[in-house]
Amino acid sequence: MQDLQAIVERALADLAAAPDAAALENAKARYLGRSGELTALLKRLGTLPAAERRAAGEALNAAKARLEEALARRRAELAESKMQAQLAAEALDVTLPGRGASRGGIHPVIRTWQRVEAIFRSIGFDVADGPEVETDWYNFTALNNPENHPARSMQDTFYVDLKDAQGLALLLRTHTSPMQVRYARLWVERHRGAKRMPPIKVIAPGRTYRVDSDATHSPMFHQVEGLWIDEDVSFADLKAVYTDFVRRFFETDAIEVRFRPSYFPFTEPSAEIDLQFAAGPLKGRWLEVSGAGQVHPQVVRNFGLDPERWIGFAFGSGLERLTMLRYGIDDLRLFFDGDLRFLRQFA
Ligand code: PHE
Repeated sequence: MQDLQAIVERALADLAAAPDAAALENAKARYLGRSGELTALLKRLGTLPAAERRAAGEALNAAKARLEEALARRRAELAESKMQAQLAAEALDVTLPGRGASRGGIHPVIRTWQRVEAIFRSIGFDVADGPEVETDWYNFTALNNPENHPARSMQDTFYVDLKDAQGLALLLRTHTSPMQVRYARLWVERHRGAKRMPPIKVIAPGRTYRVDSDATHSPMFHQVEGLWIDEDVSFADLKAVYTDFVRRFFETDAIEVRFRPSYFPFTEPSAEIDLQFAAGPLKGRWLEVSGAGQVHPQVVRNFGLDPERWIGFAFGSGLERLTMLRYGIDDLRLFFDGDLRFLRQFA
């Protein structure tokens, strides 16, 4: 029992000096654990003569209580300093200025899309929207594309591994022209039984897809389809409407518009529309921006209309093309890289 005082002093010193929780628990085990020094004294209590046992028991219990109290105190101290360290590490400097929200911008192709819509709305065109996953029928057949036309081959077209509810083959539309047929058929349906069907006058801008990829072709690109059908709309109207559009879009009259004979199964006659700027970096070159033509009688029939009575024109223009010419951009891929150094110039 003479050791008791020495043990208690050593234990108190060890507990108070434990630098962390693990060291503290080790110190506890050394004195109060199953084979701890104090525990050993307690175990020996029974071997003492009865006369000494009571005083020794009291002394041991008092010592144990002191150690337990010291242990609890040190535990609390360590927990407190751990929390203080954590608070210091995670401190927020609320006086730092904020990062601020960065300002977004409209993508140049979408800006073109919006400008085209505004120009055509101002001359009475409706704006329509339709599916990008299209049936083979709307994309090709209804547009007078013969069943075996090479444009249907896997090389040009992204086919979808599914059929629609009627079992028709599905694909990603290769142009916005199927919207001619979709819109016209709805229009005819809506005015069935009316005394006189109002003219069809619509543009349909949107995404289109082809298996194509280089500096001037991207597998996804944008077109705007135009369609005007009435009882007396002629190729001359196409020339007037498109020339007016181009001058408004490029904000200059110093532009020549050329209708160069071409071929599309869904128009007859057909033309490519070329532009030539009278000034600026593109001056003097003919640049193609659109396909166009008088809607083929078979397509008018597929609209649900009599081609002897209804006649008009359609065009399909590339929105990337128009954007590149307007801003002098020479690589189409810049539109889809997401490089902010490029995009910020249009914000
Ligand atoms: N759909 C044609 C194309 O993508 C363009 C076009 C549209 C031609 C309308 C004539 C009439 O190339």
